[in-house]
Amino acid sequence: MTTTPVEADWDNAPSVLEGARTLELSPQDCNLPYWLRHVAGTMLRRLSDGSVPDAGPTEAVRTPGPLRDAIIDEFTFRHLAEEKATRALSFAVFHSPETDDLEFFATQLIDEARHARAFREHLLRLDLSAAEIEAAVAHTAATSAAAVLDPLEEFGLQVLRDQGDFHGGVLVLTVLVEGVLAPAAELSERKWRPLDPSAALVERGANMDEIRHLAVGSSVVRRYLTEHSEQRPRLLDLVMEGRRLWEKLPMQEVLFRRESLFQEGLAQHAGLIGDYEIWPGRRLVDTSIEERMEAAERWSRETQETRLEYMLLSDAPR
Ligand SMILES: [Fe+2]
Ligand SMILES: [Fe+2]
Repeated sequence: MTTTPVEADWDNAPSVLEGARTLELSPQDCNLPYWLRHVAGTMLRRLSDGSVPDAGPTEAVRTPGPLRDAIIDEFTFRHLAEEKATRALSFAVFHSPETDDLEFFATQLIDEARHARAFREHLLRLDLSAAEIEAAVAHTAATSAAAVLDPLEEFGLQVLRDQGDFHGGVLVLTVLVEGVLAPAAELSERKWRPLDPSAALVERGANMDEIRHLAVGSSVVRRYLTEHSEQRPRLLDLVMEGRRLWEKLPMQEVLFRRESLFQEGLAQHAGLIGDYEIWPGRRLVDTSIEERMEAAERWSRETQETRLEYMLLSDAPR
């Protein structure tokens, strides 16, 4: 009988906010046997054998309207982000200095490919046909993903693929990609729960993986900087360059549009949501577009700061 580590335990894993800030895991902890046993063997099995209850999407997201548009916008964007992460990770696998790194990043690559599929497949449960999903993905790819994800991908690939810089690439993936997207995913999990419990479940499953990715990615950078302190200025520059890039990306506009659709749907389906609280003491129906965006922004700033501190890069100028 093997005991499931807390981060791979459906019933006890911390939220992405808590876990992404506090959990300590290394590639040695999360190697291939770990993944086969605890992720494929327990986490994923429980998701497919029905022991994690899935109430399915409500009528509110299955009928055409602003809520359905909001989730299509969000899940096609996530699908594309996860696919890009999968492709970029092939270079992290290629440039892995040690076997444990190679094994861990190979599992992360599979995790992200699974997420890409889960986000896309969820749209089938909202009664979209395969052709409609394809069209929606193409639309997002040409609009919000082209504006936000393409420049980020290019930045990551310059470091990982073109320069073959493994540690720089892990830093970019951990701080600038996962560190920013994970807190947004936490918001998503919370806001969809009463409207589309199975969308929240897709997010939850992905988020449990992201906690591991964030924790291991930051331990890789920490260890590297502990052994090679002369590399700190170079990695600090990379964080700064990445932040300058983020500032130029229209992520806030993308989020504003998405949250505006959600807000419209919120007003239409207030009765269904009732007193459900998005965080303690705050009913989802009472929240505004700006309030939800500010929460996600604050969570990602805090997650980034905690992780940078752990990686010995806390003095990265903003
Ligand atoms: Fe992912
Ligand atoms: Fe990830």
